[in-house]
Amino acid sequence: MRKTDLNRISADEWDEINDPRPEVNDFDRVVDDAMSRRGFLSGIIALGSGATAMGLGVPTDGNASIGSAARFQFKPIDMQRDRTVHVPDGYTWEILTRWGDPLFSDAPEFDHITGGSLRGSDRVFGENTDGMEAFLVDGRQLIAVNHEFASRKVNLPANDGGVPKSSQDVEKLQNLQGVTVMEVADTAQGWSVVIDSPYNRRITHKTPIRIAGPAAGHDLLKTDADPDGMLALGTLNNCGAGKTPWGTYLTCEENFNSYFGSTDKDIKRPDDYKRYGIGRDGWGYEYHVFDLRFDISQTPNEPRRAGYVVEIDPANPNTLPVKRTGLGRFKHENAEVTLAKDGRVVVYMGDDERGEFLYKFVSHEVYIPDGETEGLLDDGQLFVAHFSQDGSGRWLPLTPNATGMSVAEIAIFTRMAASKVGATTMDRPEWVAVNPSKVEAYCCLTNNKYRGIKSNRGGDDTPVGGPNPRKENRFGQIVRWYPANDDHGDVVFRWDLFVMAGNPDLYDDARGGSENINAGNMFNSPDGMQFDSTGLLWIQTDGKDSNDGRYKGMGNNQMLAGDPESGRIERFLTGPKGSEVTGLTWSSDRRSMFVGIQHPGSQFPDGRGKLPRSSVIVVRRADGGLVG
Ligand code: FEO
Ligand code: CA
Ligand code: CA
Repeated sequence: MRKTDLNRISADEWDEINDPRPEVNDFDRVVDDAMSRRGFLSGIIALGSGATAMGLGVPTDGNASIGSAARFQFKPIDMQRDRTVHVPDGYTWEILTRWGDPLFSDAPEFDHITGGSLRGSDRVFGENTDGMEAFLVDGRQLIAVNHEFASRKVNLPANDGGVPKSSQDVEKLQNLQGVTVMEVADTAQGWSVVIDSPYNRRITHKTPIRIAGPAAGHDLLKTDADPDGMLALGTLNNCGAGKTPWGTYLTCEENFNSYFGSTDKDIKRPDDYKRYGIGRDGWGYEYHVFDLRFDISQTPNEPRRAGYVVEIDPANPNTLPVKRTGLGRFKHENAEVTLAKDGRVVVYMGDDERGEFLYKFVSHEVYIPDGETEGLLDDGQLFVAHFSQDGSGRWLPLTPNATGMSVAEIAIFTRMAASKVGATTMDRPEWVAVNPSKVEAYCCLTNNKYRGIKSNRGGDDTPVGGPNPRKENRFGQIVRWYPANDDHGDVVFRWDLFVMAGNPDLYDDARGGSENINAGNMFNSPDGMQFDSTGLLWIQTDGKDSNDGRYKGMGNNQMLAGDPESGRIERFLTGPKGSEVTGLTWSSDRRSMFVGIQHPGSQFPDGRGKLPRSSVIVVRRADGGLVG
């Protein structure tokens, strides 16, 4: 019997149990409780150019008086606590596809008793939908979408506690995760998946994936099964996503460590395992018991072949996906791609763990439309962000000189390289979004209850201050930066906070959040984030939905829209109880919005007595108008 029910704890809680970090109390510089909400915010906002964005200087009583409502085409909705989805009046939602729905006509219909057998488990839409992007290929609407993790009790409902008991159980879980590429079409019955489309494709934990970039072929990536270190199997824990200007999909490997374990419980773990949370027990998937690739006592380099960004070409289903090691190895959240002024490719990336870092990759070569793009994500410079208290910031290059590591080692042990240059420890960097209307970028810092309490896994302090201004940060914030010279390729920036989530009903201090938070738009734990084509910032949450205690008034997880100019934020959608709202993209005509509902608690969407099924939904205006 396990001491901890692994089905009930998040990946980061599990990491903490696996490798507890010592408490450190001597470096908290700000005691937020002592500060007034307004005084606290003035301190932060004075640092950046976002004073108007935060509504400072605008007389406000803390209610929704910030900015103009004109930017928003919808009437905001109240928080909800029930088991379904809500959208504003004048909008509709429908299911596009659910875990277990067939992609191919040879797949079995979904079985609510077993959650589906092994047979056909890689021929259906996978579990726990996450990041997604839409592509228009030869006039066909494609969507590439991630399947982040398995909910074992739901996916293996016949097994006690959802514990896998055979290699068949493990293989089924491996098939349900990864990525789906699917063609979708708008028909008289609404949007649906085009069964048997030649573009439909499942990429799982077993699919061959080419390794490219500085780490390809390095000794640290060689295994008995792949002595050249050039061909991995599977992409793991696909969280957020990205899209390149050349029409490929980027899928990001986040909590890849959770799949590994050891059948030898006395095995000594090297330091890099500890920094990346590679433990002896695994997070309940039991892969290591039935598949020696995941047994670190048998295949010690296998964990070093995961934790990358993987590029997939949705237009060419027969091409191998590629692990782009030049983008570094960490718990990748998403990969937001933009261009520097001179055409070099810039990729912003968060490492989602308490006290880890925010990164940027800049290609050496420039992107030329219809030109060769193969090496663009392999050859370049990786940087890590340093934020100063005065509102300035700098991207620190991870070079052999600065780190004492080779370029390949920097690509494989990126966290250690970033620690060596003194990067700023962050409150769990989730999605980055680049404003298409203005040269600025945003990153969700979802929460960090150990800010000012514990170091990160590498021993770096997590002082209170800068873009992480609250000790024991339970609510999260969104940091924004403005690259110098209006150039995402520049190494210098200024920054401010677009919003600090909080509960102004309960707290007068910094826990009340910034002034663009009010009783009508409260939320916690911002996570997914995308700009639409009009320059509205869509924010999705993955937080506590107890609606109790400090979270009272926030309700279920949700999706809100923010106006970068006014700072105003309004609630657009609420998810079913227990779910996270994550993943957002639009049809090519911008009349349909695709939204992911991950791990709904129960009853969604098929009703009482049925297994809950993670789903992609479609949101439209009833009048057929544009939705972003
Ligand atoms: Fe998979 Fe950090 O969210
Ligand atoms: Ca996320
Ligand atoms: Ca999250």
